Amino acid sequence: MSTQITWYGHATLGVNTSGYQLIIDPFFNGNPVSPIKADQVQADYLLITHGHGDHVGDSIAIAKRTNAEVISNFEIVNWLGKQGVKKAHGQHLGGGFQYPFGYLKLTLALHGSALPDGSYGGNPAGFLLTTIDQKKIYMAGDTGLFWDMKLIGEEGIDLAVIPIGDNYTMGPKDALRAVKLLQPKHVIPIHFNTWDLIAQDGKAWAARVKEEVGCRVHVLQPGDSYTL
Ligand code: NI
Ligand code: MN
Repeated sequence: MSTQITWYGHATLGVNTSGYQLIIDPFFNGNPVSPIKADQVQADYLLITHGHGDHVGDSIAIAKRTNAEVISNFEIVNWLGKQGVKKAHGQHLGGGFQYPFGYLKLTLALHGSALPDGSYGGNPAGFLLTTIDQKKIYMAGDTGLFWDMKLIGEEGIDLAVIPIGDNYTMGPKDALRAVKLLQPKHVIPIHFNTWDLIAQDGKAWAARVKEEVGCRVHVLQPGDSYTL
C-alpha cells in the first residue's frame, strides 16, 4: 500500500491513500499556479486547515458537486453548513478521529483563521494523518515556528509538509528549525512561489536541510506527485 501526495501549488494537496482521495485546502480557481480548476477535482474528503480564503478556497463548490465530506474545525464546519454543505465532520485541536482513510488529528498552528466573509473561523490547525498502513504524515498548515513541533515529531513523522514562504508563515530559516524539531524522514515545502510576496528558492532550502538535518526534501512543481 502506498500514499501518493500531489502538490497543486500554494497549500493545496491531494493525498491518495487506501483508495480514498483527500484534498487539503482546496484552493484552485484563485490559485495562480494550480494546473487544474476546481471543476476538475475529484474528492472523497476535503480537509481545511483554517478559514482564510486561500485555504477554504473552492471547498463549497467542490463539496456540493462531489458530495465529499469536509473535515475541519468545529467553527468552519458550522459555517460551511450554513453555505449548504451537507456532509461535514468537525474536530478540534488535539482531537483525533478514525476515518476509513486513517486516523486524523488536528494539531496546533500559530496563525489566524477568519473566514472569507469575516465570520469567526475558530483556531487554525495542522493535520497529523496516520494512514491505514501506519505512515505518519504531518501537514503543518499555515503556521509560525513553535516549540511543540518537538511533541509532534515524537510520534515519528514519515513525511512533513511545511510552509517556507515567509511573510504569512514560517520562512526558510524557521522552516529549517521546524525540520530539526520534527525530525521527519521526508519533507515537502509548500506555501511559497504562489505570489512574489512569498517567492523562495526551494532547491536552495532543500540543499540546506539535507546538509544540516540529513532528511530527504522533495521540492515539487505544481501538479507533481510524491509517493510515500
Ligand atoms: Ni492563512
Ligand atoms: Mn495561507
